[in-house]
Amino acid sequence: MNYIMKKIIVANWKMSPPTVKEAEGLFDGIQTSMPKLKDTEVVICPSFVHLDSLSKMLHASCFKFQVKLGAQDFFWEKKGFYTGEISIPMLKNFGVKYVIVGHSERREYLKANNEIINKKIKSALKSGLKVIFCVGEKERDEGGDYLKFIKQEILEGLSKLNRKDLDNLIIAYEPIWAISSNKNSLADDPQSFFQTSIYIRRVLFFKFGLKVSRQMPILYGGSVDAGNACSFIEEGNAQGLLVGRASLKPKTFTDLLKAI
Ligand code: PGA
Repeated sequence: MNYIMKKIIVANWKMSPPTVKEAEGLFDGIQTSMPKLKDTEVVICPSFVHLDSLSKMLHASCFKFQVKLGAQDFFWEKKGFYTGEISIPMLKNFGVKYVIVGHSERREYLKANNEIINKKIKSALKSGLKVIFCVGEKERDEGGDYLKFIKQEILEGLSKLNRKDLDNLIIAYEPIWAISSNKNSLADDPQSFFQTSIYIRRVLFFKFGLKVSRQMPILYGGSVDAGNACSFIEEGNAQGLLVGRASLKPKTFTDLLKAI
């Protein structure tokens, strides 16, 4: 049974495109050919340096009710001497409503561990942002040890949070081996995603109770495209998708939106 009616489709542009002009072109292309979507929110997470111009474009368009801006990361302190960091108030200036936390690429090359991720989740939720909390294993093993790894990411990432804090939390299950930037990547199977999402709900149930476990949106990410998006939503019962590569061209992204 699907308890969450609204679908959330998140476009993670990572470090692309290289110029503001290209980012504007991509954004414009998506808006122009975007289908009318019912009960679906599209979240575009561009690079920090493109937020200013995209927020102006969004504000001036009729898509502002359907498309929201998100950031790919941020720093947990509101102010202070933190070279190179971006704070939540800075992001809010540009109308950012969502933040991605714990993406595997940042866990890998910036060594963002569960403790840091927990600090970020706590500060973003406290500031009223919606948090897309990424979890997922590097490898699958037959014995199911990867599930323990996911459990640890969830429990440590959500440490010292209560059920009442979690209304704005969204979990994105994104197995690292399925992300398209990895060699030989292949999307997970919708049935297998469904089973993993049940496991995630069990972990949430034992820690936070039935309501959180039932109502938590769980998105799927990793090599999503127009060809498989629909089956993750229908067969996999995903409440949405986290899309990297397929969100970088207006046609591939809007084809995906049309497919769902
Ligand atoms: P992908 O990336 O869709 O290109 O696999 C997803 C992500 O890294 O969030």
